[in-house]
Amino acid sequence: MDRLSLYAKGSMKKVTIKDFKKTMSKFTTGITVVCVKDGTKVYGKTVNSFNSLSLKPPLVLFSLGNNSSSIKIFKKSKYLSINILSNKQKSLSDHFSKKFQKNTEVNFLEGINNILNIKGCVANLECKLEDKIKKGDHTIFICKVIKTKYNDKLKPLSYYNSKYY
Ligand SMILES: Cc1cc2nc3c(=O)[nH]c(=O)nc-3n(C[C@H](O)[C@H](O)[C@H](O)COP(=O)(O)O)c2cc1C
Repeated sequence: MDRLSLYAKGSMKKVTIKDFKKTMSKFTTGITVVCVKDGTKVYGKTVNSFNSLSLKPPLVLFSLGNNSSSIKIFKKSKYLSINILSNKQKSLSDHFSKKFQKNTEVNFLEGINNILNIKGCVANLECKLEDKIKKGDHTIFICKVIKTKYNDKLKPLSYYNSKYY
């Protein structure tokens, strides 16, 4: 019996973390890396919870786990970049999903307000952090987009069913 027929029979089985993760994995997303510069150090996190929020003003959001090794750095940041990866940048997604990476080998391009953009992306968004909302085990970061860059010739990296495409 599949899940749908289970629910159709009125069974209110609790949604387990495993079920929730598996269900959400059926939603195809792109992959972004959010980056902040703190002093001379660059912090980056692979994030697929990215979405647009508002047109007027241009706002986007993403969420970070409250237990992330870099949550404090992101929370205190003023400016950050959101880098939408191309299908040639899977290695960057792997790199920035690791804890305590060394980012010296990553090619960055400096933007306004000390923002560092990753080179070779489908798009880069330079953002000002506007708001943080703690909800559940994650914090939602709401950012105002102050500058954008995109490349029509590149194809995005996609993520579906826990696999890259
Ligand atoms: C495809 C993919 C998407 C991810 N999306 C998110 C996300 O939206 N939010 C988040 O907090 N972590 C996300 N992660 C996990 C982080 O990249 C990272 O692995 C996690 O925060 C643990 O490392 P940390 O403690 O150094 O932050 C994602 C990982 C992968 C591989």
